[in-house]
Amino acid sequence: MNQQLIFTDELESALKALVHGLQPSVVVFLADENTAIHAQPLVKALDGSLFTVPAGEQNKGIRNAENIWQAWLDIGLDRHALLINVGGGMVTDLGGFLAATYKRGIRYINVPTSLLAQVDAAFGGKTGINLHHIKNAIGAFHQAEAVLFSRFLLQTLPVRELESGKAEMLKHGLIADKGLWLDMLSLKPGEIPENVLIQKAVGIKAEITARDPFETGERKLLNFGHTIGHALESLAMESTTPLLHGEAIVLGMLAEIEVSVQLGVLAAETALAIQLDLKRLFPHLKAEFQFENWLPFVLNDKKNQGNRVLFTLLHEVGAASYNKAVETYQMQEAWRKLQQEWA
Ligand SMILES: NC(=O)c1ccc[n+]([C@@H]2O[C@H](COP(=O)([O-])OP(=O)(O)OC[C@H]3O[C@@H](n4cnc5c(N)ncnc54)[C@H](O)[C@@H]3O)[C@@H](O)[C@H]2O)c1
Repeated sequence: MNQQLIFTDELESALKALVHGLQPSVVVFLADENTAIHAQPLVKALDGSLFTVPAGEQNKGIRNAENIWQAWLDIGLDRHALLINVGGGMVTDLGGFLAATYKRGIRYINVPTSLLAQVDAAFGGKTGINLHHIKNAIGAFHQAEAVLFSRFLLQTLPVRELESGKAEMLKHGLIADKGLWLDMLSLKPGEIPENVLIQKAVGIKAEITARDPFETGERKLLNFGHTIGHALESLAMESTTPLLHGEAIVLGMLAEIEVSVQLGVLAAETALAIQLDLKRLFPHLKAEFQFENWLPFVLNDKKNQGNRVLFTLLHEVGAASYNKAVETYQMQEAWRKLQQEWA
């Protein structure tokens, strides 16, 4: 994998240098209505064109993809163009997918503006869109040429979104780095993590995805909390109170910790301590969904093999395992316990 990860306070000049090296025929930008403010100075500096989509997960779908494909065709965008995505995970996932598919693939750079996109969505090569509320049902692996990180961009991020991003950092700590987990626990609500913590979290995912770019093995560790989390996120998308990605992952981690205890790989007292910490950080989250309602989404998970639902399980803080087959009754029992204690 050849993906440059660049931490900088000089976004404009770093981007200019990168674009100069890539020598594209033309530069186009993608942002949403909230992140366009961060894209505009870069568009000006690089003499590019800006395309915007409405903000929100519900807009990561085929309709917006089609609109942008058409707009690019209308301006005669060729295969040597460069796309620069400036936004959260919605924009980097959608933009990455557009770049993977337009004229069989163009190059792209990500400038993630949300914490979640910085520590997770914007690098590693997974791109995609949702189809009728199934999260990331359609997609492709397509690596960005580079990802530029600037903590400065996070200053305009709403607090709820910031906290959602912390969920993925907590997950990185849980699966691979006890030190990161402990550091994250000491942050106050609304506090932007220091660069050193963001870099640590990025480093964990970057190392894993470099060793296993197509998720044939070790990369599945990063899915901890995501099997049930994605199902809850998909379900909540259909309701009037959607969950943010990170919030769904927190509920997913709480549940998958119960699954880990049931399968005998995680000590009950360690599980409880982790759950107490997560509940302290996300007190408003409730396990209020019905098992029968989210189970169909788990059974449709693209990580399954045949009829087998495969989970990533936690063994202790900093260690996890993947490809663990879990039966329906075990998920049901884990959810029942969680609801009893945390609903
Ligand atoms: N490809 C991957 O590996 C991967 C990994 C994790 C998550 N994801 C995807 O990422 C998405 C979630 O990412 P997200 O939480 O960034 O969602 P998002 O992109 O929808 O951003 C959340 C909200 O914050 C706004 N926003 C973003 N940056 C801002 C800024 N600097 N200032 C003000 N507002 C800002 C956005 O406009 C949006 O309203 C999901 O679609 C998820 O599936 C992908």
